[in-house]
Formats: sequence, C-alpha cells, structure tokens
Amino acid sequence: MEKLSTAQIRERYLAFFERYGHTRVPSTSLVVADDPTLLFVNSGMVPFKDVFLGVEKRPYTRAVTAQKCLRVSGKHNDLDEVGPSPRHQTFFEMLGNFSFGDYFKAGAIEMAWQLLTEEFKLPVERLWLTVFEGDDEVPADDEAANLWIAQGVDPARVLRFGRKDNLWVMGDSGPCGPNSEITVYTGDDMSKMRAAGVNSDDPDYVEIWNNVFMQYERATMQKLPAQSVDTGMGLERMAMVMQGVRSNYDTDAFVRIIARIMAELAATSCITGRSLRPIVLWPITAALLRS
Ligand code: SER
Repeated sequence: MEKLSTAQIRERYLAFFERYGHTRVPSTSLVVADDPTLLFVNSGMVPFKDVFLGVEKRPYTRAVTAQKCLRVSGKHNDLDEVGPSPRHQTFFEMLGNFSFGDYFKAGAIEMAWQLLTEEFKLPVERLWLTVFEGDDEVPADDEAANLWIAQGVDPARVLRFGRKDNLWVMGDSGPCGPNSEITVYTGDDMSKMRAAGVNSDDPDYVEIWNNVFMQYERATMQKLPAQSVDTGMGLERMAMVMQGVRSNYDTDAFVRIIARIMAELAATSCITGRSLRPIVLWPITAALLRS
C-alpha cells in the first residue's frame, strides 16, 4: 500500500472517477440552501438530493466530489464523539461518486473494487464487505453480495447487517436505500482478524467507504423514478489507513496544526491529545461557516 498524503488521496479518487466519465463537481457550502429539513450538509449526496428524487436535472449523469460535511445535528450527529473517538471529527471531507439513473450496483461495485485494490492497492486480505440482510419492507441485498463475490471476494468476507448499518437514510425524508460498506482490518496481528470485529467497537476495524444504492423515498418508501448510486468515503479515515496511523488526528492533515497548538498555546496548560481534538476542529469549522 502506498503512503499517500490526504491531498494525494483526494486527487487520485477524483481523477479515477473522472476517467470513468464522472464530472468533477466542486464542494458546496456547508450551509444547506433551500432545504428546511437539514441545517448543514451531512453527506456528499446532499447537494444532489433533488437530482436523486427526480425533480432536478443536471447536464451529467455521473459526478464525483470531495464534499465538505458537518455532522452536528439530526440523524447524523457526531458532536459527542469528538474527543473520545480518534475517528470522528464532525467536520470532514467526504469523497463520493454518484450515478443519477446511470450505472447501478454492478458498475458501482466493479469501480469500487478497482479503486480499492488497484488504484489504492489496499491489501485484499484485510478487506470486509457488508450488505443489507433484508426485513419486511426492503429485501435482502443478495445482488450486491453476489457482485462482490464476482469480483473475487471470498464469500466469507461478505457479511449481512440490518437497518442501522446497511440501510442509508439522510433524514426523515429524502432518497434512501440499502448500502454496502467496506471495512479495513488495521490490526498488527492478522491471526486476530475475525468477522465479529466488523461493526463492533474494536478500533482495529475501520469503515472507510459506503456505497448506497438509492431506490426509495424515505417518508413514503415509494420507488424513486430512477435507481441511483451515492457513495461516501471519509477522506481523513482513508488517510489514516493509508498512512498507517491509529487516529485521523495523526494524519498529515492535522499533525502540524496540533504540534503548533501544543507549542504555542498548550505549553503551560494541561491540554491532552483528546481535548486538543475539538480545539483543532472548531476554528476550521467556524472559518468554513463564515466563507
Ligand atoms: N450517503 C452515504 C453516507 O453518508 C454515502 O455517501 O454514508
């Protein structure tokens, strides 16, 4: 696995999907315009919500973005995680490729596997996939499971989970659908790797990417006019994995800022690594909200 900087990971992701006909669309502001259901952009798909719902048309059917996101309220709220968690930031960048009625599960999974194993060269033996197990409203996603297996994934590495992990919704309304997540085992001891670690609290298992197969409108559970794809990869988490460190805050995006705070502000106080995390994030977020 190459040790890429955060900026290199961002660029390689965007360029990879551009090669597959995706239009590179700039990140929107964090503050959501014209949507009373949401205060801040909490996922890369938010600026495309109306495109997924079929009420807005764009001059492209494939897009790729590095979208600024903030998770401080509503369905996706990481506020209490900042500090204790080495992997939650509230403000982060989400890399995403999108299909608006263009490719669906087969195209998404084929490109995802190529990006992970050929472009980023993640070790296949450390990767785990999850799919929706099904319930009385939404059927099991056997199709996604079989598509991963068709890429050469060991069937024992494709796990099934319920709504909490594998049915993605942006809020009480809006587009939604079953999703498939990719988890990397980052432990030093491969003999300890096990299926039960995926979606557990074990810090050796890092979920890096979510591929959502948009099919329904959440409030009504009516089928959308077209089947679409929305994916989201946490840029800082991917940097953590590729740089071989244990925390997002130990990646190149943060270490210099933290070192400077430690040197200039914290010399006489008892600020620890944990309490530095919110201090690092808030000025960045505040500046972005003003911009
Ligand atoms: N919307 C999905 C998520 O936030 C994938 O982008 O996880």
